[in-house]
Amino acid sequence: MEQPRVCTGPVCRLRGADTCLAALAGQGATPMPCAGRCDEPIPVLIGHNQWVGDAAGNLARQPTPLPPPNPGGIEECVFAQIRRPGRNTLEGYRATGGYSGLARAVAEMTPAAVIEHVKASQLAGRGGAGFPTGQKWQAVADAPGQPKTIVCNADEGEPGCFKDRAILDYDPFAVIEGMTLAAYATGATRGFLYLRYEYPETLALAEQAIAAAYAADLLGSRILGADVQFELYVRRGAGAYICGEEGSLLNSLEGKHPFPRNRPPFPVTHGFEDLPTVVNNVETLAAAAQIMRHPPEWYVGMGRNGHAGTKLISLSGDIQRPGNYEVPFGLPLRTLLYDWAGGSLADHAIQAVTMAGISGGFLSGEDLDSATIDEPSMRSKGSMLGAAGMIVFDDRRDMIQAAHNAIEFFAHESCGKCFPCRIGTQRLTERLAGIGPSDLKIWLEEVNDLSATMKAVSACGLGMVAPLVIESLIQRFPAQVAAHVEHQKGPVEY
Ligand SMILES: Cc1cc2nc3c(=O)[nH]c(=O)nc-3n(C[C@H](O)[C@H](O)[C@H](O)COP(=O)(O)O)c2cc1C
Ligand code: SF4
Repeated sequence: MEQPRVCTGPVCRLRGADTCLAALAGQGATPMPCAGRCDEPIPVLIGHNQWVGDAAGNLARQPTPLPPPNPGGIEECVFAQIRRPGRNTLEGYRATGGYSGLARAVAEMTPAAVIEHVKASQLAGRGGAGFPTGQKWQAVADAPGQPKTIVCNADEGEPGCFKDRAILDYDPFAVIEGMTLAAYATGATRGFLYLRYEYPETLALAEQAIAAAYAADLLGSRILGADVQFELYVRRGAGAYICGEEGSLLNSLEGKHPFPRNRPPFPVTHGFEDLPTVVNNVETLAAAAQIMRHPPEWYVGMGRNGHAGTKLISLSGDIQRPGNYEVPFGLPLRTLLYDWAGGSLADHAIQAVTMAGISGGFLSGEDLDSATIDEPSMRSKGSMLGAAGMIVFDDRRDMIQAAHNAIEFFAHESCGKCFPCRIGTQRLTERLAGIGPSDLKIWLEEVNDLSATMKAVSACGLGMVAPLVIESLIQRFPAQVAAHVEHQKGPVEY
């Protein structure tokens, strides 16, 4: 029998992942970093099957949760139809408006007009970096070289993020339609869905959906009976967080070691096989399919306070109603946490919330009244929204332990290509494990020096953002840091 892999990510640790791991030790269980199922802890992967475990090591099967209904009655884009039964079949997708955007594009619009439509919607990348999608498609359309490629980045390795799995499980044709639109707009003729290794059921669903799209001439050499060709393949990810970084992803797709690539050149001119390539996140592509069914102003108008559009938030941890929520950009963070997701657990207060999964570090409970869900607001707090996973820690939690787990994840997942990140993540992990100076001033100087060096000279986003965890810990929880350093208090157990 294959050995179980037990998720020991930040949310699962709150739910007893370590005791689950110990309970399954007799079966040879090993820990795995966050498995992208923070809304159904504790995931246990055995071969190609996903189970949900508890702290005692009992295992059960459980379907991917549907996104909870939006309690604000606010119009949605990506999730607008996702709760309709049968939406993940081709018939169900078409019956709820699916493929009408692509049909209109192919019949009535030039590729350039499709790009202008996406530009006017102000859609920007939802994988973390927020690059304008229309501009990316334009760059690939303009770049010399054939064949061009569309890559859907479904690697979703950031702890606390599980939105892309929900889209692919319940609305896979939206992603396929979005990729086909990108292909039509850019002149690309081949595409890859690069899917996280730990999503085996999603793999089966995606393969079924792609086969159904081929059978209905929605993929292949004459899409919708027109002179449009797009061949789509699924590739299973290599099981490492760094494979979500687009350069690493492209190396992985080419069968190479998944080191990030030096930039420039960018994938839009030198991507898969050194040819022009769009790399877009699952959510970005699913949004594009919806946007093509509406005037661009429809999407722009969904945001608040001058922000365009919507964002999916994966919410987990110490919160009443975890799950994926689609929020208008600009929504107050408190509204999401309390009015939509029911607030903190009984008798406890929210102590901290991570941003961008864990890459944006921590906000504290005191930030909730002033933070809105948009990049400028998060930046003003020294954080970032990124792919928008949020993990809630209530007042029972030891923030040193929470930060230690996060930095340990980055140390484990650092690809090792450049030394500031390879060594810096290890040193920061040690400092949070109680190894290092016991003089607070020296400890802080050293940690700040490590962080500044990592941010300045790391070769990719992983090393640049990892220090945010410890910086935000020092800024928002100084008393816990002082106690940890001065009393040499190592991380406590959950
Ligand atoms: C360490 C690291 C991991 C990343 N992981 C993902 C990921 O899992 N999924 C994703 O879409 N983007 C990820 N990104 C961002 C991608 O490099 C890229 O910006 C994105 O796929 C572009 O798509 P978008 O413009 O639609 O957001 C990651 C970036 C870094 C630095
Ligand atoms: S920053 Fe870290 S993950 Fe990125 S290339 Fe350097 S060692 Fe690899």
